[in-house]
Amino acid sequence: MTVSGDAFSSQLGSVAADTEALINTLLAPNPCVGEIARPQRLLEAMRYSSLGGGKRIRPFLVVASADLFAVPRQRSLMAGAALEFIHCYSLIHDDLPAMDNDDLRRGRPTAHKAFDDATAILSGDSLLTFAFDIASRPEIHPDAAVRIDLVRALARAAGIGGMAGGQMLDLAAEGRFSGGRPQALDEAAILTLQAMKTGALLRFACLAGAILGQATANERAALERYGEAIGKAFQIADDLLDVEGDSATLGKAAHKDAEAGKATIVGILGVPAAKERLAALVDEAKSALRPFGAKASILAEAAQFIASRNA
Ligand code: IPE
Ligand code: IPE
Ligand code: MG
Ligand code: MG
Ligand code: MG
Repeated sequence: MTVSGDAFSSQLGSVAADTEALINTLLAPNPCVGEIARPQRLLEAMRYSSLGGGKRIRPFLVVASADLFAVPRQRSLMAGAALEFIHCYSLIHDDLPAMDNDDLRRGRPTAHKAFDDATAILSGDSLLTFAFDIASRPEIHPDAAVRIDLVRALARAAGIGGMAGGQMLDLAAEGRFSGGRPQALDEAAILTLQAMKTGALLRFACLAGAILGQATANERAALERYGEAIGKAFQIADDLLDVEGDSATLGKAAHKDAEAGKATIVGILGVPAAKERLAALVDEAKSALRPFGAKASILAEAAQFIASRNA
């Protein structure tokens, strides 16, 4: 049995709306216990970058994976919001002049354009830290051991061995630290870079469902395998959209990767072979879901969406 694309779109839309409402509540002006005050300009910048845009695919994956284990929705939405905060921070910093130097994000000026570099940096720092505040809250799971498992997995996905480390490899590949001469990375090195900069947070989204659902080791491994395949697929799709998409639809600059000397799978395989690779990764993702049977049909649709999206 497969879920129709319509069921997938409506579930993605409803998780996006619930995530939006939750982020709006979490980023209220009132400080939490233990906080002293929330400076207005910083809060505005955090809200600017985390509300009113984005596909919310990561929160969707947390919720859909957690649904396999009948995890209460408020818990998975909280975990999804924590992950989305980290994702939004990664985009703010990714767009900075010192990194990709982009002016457009989610159809609006990037954070440093709407505010200033310092506010953008600090709003990223604050979103990153806030994510761990959220992930440690008892509303996410009553068992502290489960919360520690979640927090540690999130830290490892976001930090030196995950997203931030991948961003470092991405800039190194452009030649940033070697006199501007792009590095000639082979396919294996590009796959590692992409598994880190993009794959790690997507893999965590799926793992979070397993952690919250206290899944068996086999179930957890199956979701990790699925998460790894869609993580690879996601960045290849992003790189293809950079080549074939347009800024108006993407809501961010297109046609920048080749000029910047970015190391991409599309760059080394070419567009047709990259598309074949993408299709194979969707099959791999779907086959990882086999142990869950029809219950996982919406995750299968998500894999398809990730590969064929136009933004
Ligand atoms: C963009 O991620 C950055 C990458 C990891 C390639 P998304 O395409 O999920 O961005 P939003 O959240 O929908 O804006
Ligand atoms: C971004 O990769 C990955 C992270 C933000 C961690 P890109 O630099 O390709 O993302 P876009 O294209 O700017 O969204
Ligand atoms: Mg980048
Ligand atoms: Mg970028
Ligand atoms: Mg890109």
